Order: sequence, then structure tokens, then C-alpha cells
Amino acid sequence: MTTDTGRDQQRDAAGRLRHLLTLEGLSRDEILGLLELSETFVRAPGEPPARGTTLAGRTVANLFFEPSTRTRVSFELAAARLGADVVNLEMQSSSRVKGESVLDTIYTLQAMAVDVFVLRDAEPGLPAWIARHTAPHVRVLNAGEAHLSHPTQGLLDALTIRQRFADSSRLVVTVVGDVRHSRVARSAWQALRTLGVAEFRLVGPRELMPEATELPGARRCATLAEGLAGADVVMALRIQRERMAEARIPDAASYHKEYGITAQSLALAQPGALVMHPGPMNRGVEISEEVADGPQSVIQQQVANGVAVRMAVLAYLLNRADDASGAPRGRRAG
Ligand code: NCD
Repeated sequence: MTTDTGRDQQRDAAGRLRHLLTLEGLSRDEILGLLELSETFVRAPGEPPARGTTLAGRTVANLFFEPSTRTRVSFELAAARLGADVVNLEMQSSSRVKGESVLDTIYTLQAMAVDVFVLRDAEPGLPAWIARHTAPHVRVLNAGEAHLSHPTQGLLDALTIRQRFADSSRLVVTVVGDVRHSRVARSAWQALRTLGVAEFRLVGPRELMPEATELPGARRCATLAEGLAGADVVMALRIQRERMAEARIPDAASYHKEYGITAQSLALAQPGALVMHPGPMNRGVEISEEVADGPQSVIQQQVANGVAVRMAVLAYLLNRADDASGAPRGRRAG
């Protein structure tokens, strides 16, 4: 299995998006197009959710080799609300031998006319690899790949920010926490850089900062105070203990003191700055209870936007008049 990001591979011969493996290489117009389509699926809280029939007759399989609540459920709801049949498979990574058995699963599902594979995996490379082995009409969506990429999360974060700030050119966005292990931070950076934010700042313990060559152009701040000063958007991240061989972090209490988003630290940001978190949250560690549930928090809005974005991505990739949807189903690619 190679570990390419799938940047080029996600396009068909005509250069159109066929899969969504990464936000790398997407143009500003493509990202804006996806966000505008997502907006059409957004409803006010308490209103009935958007529904449609775009995916009627299609089958979506969610294959998650890592635990997930919100991402998996939101893909499931997104597909179902557009009329697709949905199957969910929670897979045990331990039963995987060099990826071989995954491919057997994929071919089995493909033979049952599954059109879309939504994949989450702890190791890099699986989405691109599966995309290379499926039939031409099949679509692959990356729902979280190691620490590298989580494209629909990047889109939902960009959407949440745009709903408040239509003009991104003067925006300061600060990501606080375990950036090193965060696919959320990387995909957010890919989306927001393409949309043209003024500054993207990173703050966290030195051990949890990414390699110097990663997230080129992002500003690394030495302290939380420096990172938050004048920020319009503050995104807190969970410490991804599952991606560390050994604990490289101080205990929860000292971490909270130094890097926690609290009423006190948030006061350094712009008044009314947006507070974001991809979930799952550790209240009292990277974010205080008060801020997580406070008036500046858009965390629930992110969750709601997640369904809208996933509906948009599914509709965009599958609803093309000129795609290969007429191709024989269940055909086994070479
Ligand atoms: C994140 C993920 O899985 O990358 N969660 C999510 O998709 N909403 C972040 C995390 O697990 O901390």
C-alpha cells in the first residue's frame, strides 16, 4: 500500500473530482462550490432536516477502522436523507493482513452494488489504495486518514467560519493543541489557505507541534497569549493519545493551565471570536465547560454543518449527468 495523499488520483481523466481523498489541490472555486451546495442543505436548529432524492437507488457503505460517533452518524444521515441505502461496517483493524482482507471486503460489497465507500483508518494510504482498486463508477470518500487528512471536516470547519465571516481575507484563525497528530488541523489549513485567510496560527506544547515542513505558511506561536491575541476564530483540539507511542504531554491540569481555552484566555481573542472544536471534547482539559457551552461556541453548529457538507459532497460526486453511473454495477476492477 502506498501512502500518496490521493491529490491527483481523486480526479478522473477530464480532471473532475471523482473521489474526495484530500482537500489538497482543490481550487478555490471547487471549495466554494462545495460550500455553497452545503448551504442549501443547512436548516435552522429545530427545523426538519433537508431531504432529497439525489441518491435514490445508490448504496453507501461506511467502513470505519477507527472509532467514530459524529463523523459516522453524519455520513449515515447525509446518505439516508438523500435517499440512499446505507450499510455500516465497524471493522477490526487487527483482522487485517496487509490490507488484503480489506480489498476482499470491498469487492464483496461492490458485488452487492455498493457505489460509495466512506473510509476511516488509522494508517495513511487506505482511501487512495481502495480508490485505485474499485470499479470506475465507484466513489471513495475519506472520513479520516491517520493524522493526515479529514477533508469533510475541513469543509465543515470552513463552512462554519464562512457563516459568520463572509470575507476571509482579514481573518486570523488559531488552532490550539495537538496539531502534530491532527488530521483536522491539516484539512482545515488546506481549506482555509485556499480560501485565503490572513493568518493561520498554531499553538501548543513543542512536542505536539508538527514538523517544520508541515503546514507551510502557518505561524507557530510560542505562547497561548501570542496565539490568541486578536484571533477571530479559535479551534481547540483534543490530545490524540492513541497516536502517540508514549505520553509526550504534561498532565491534564497543567495542560489546561497553559493551553486551555477558558473564559480568561478567550478574552485575549477578538470580542465574539468563534470557538470551535471537532469533538470529542475533553472538558476541563483543552476547553473549559463554560466556554464549550458558552455564547461564543459554535461546536453544535459544526456538528449540524457536518451533515450538510456530507450531503453536498455525496451529491456533488454522484449526481453528474455525464458520470459513469450507467456502467455495469458490481464490476470488478482489474
Ligand atoms: C476528529 C477526528 O477523528 O479526527 N473528530 C472528528 O472527526 N469529529 C478529532 C478527534 O478525534 O479528536
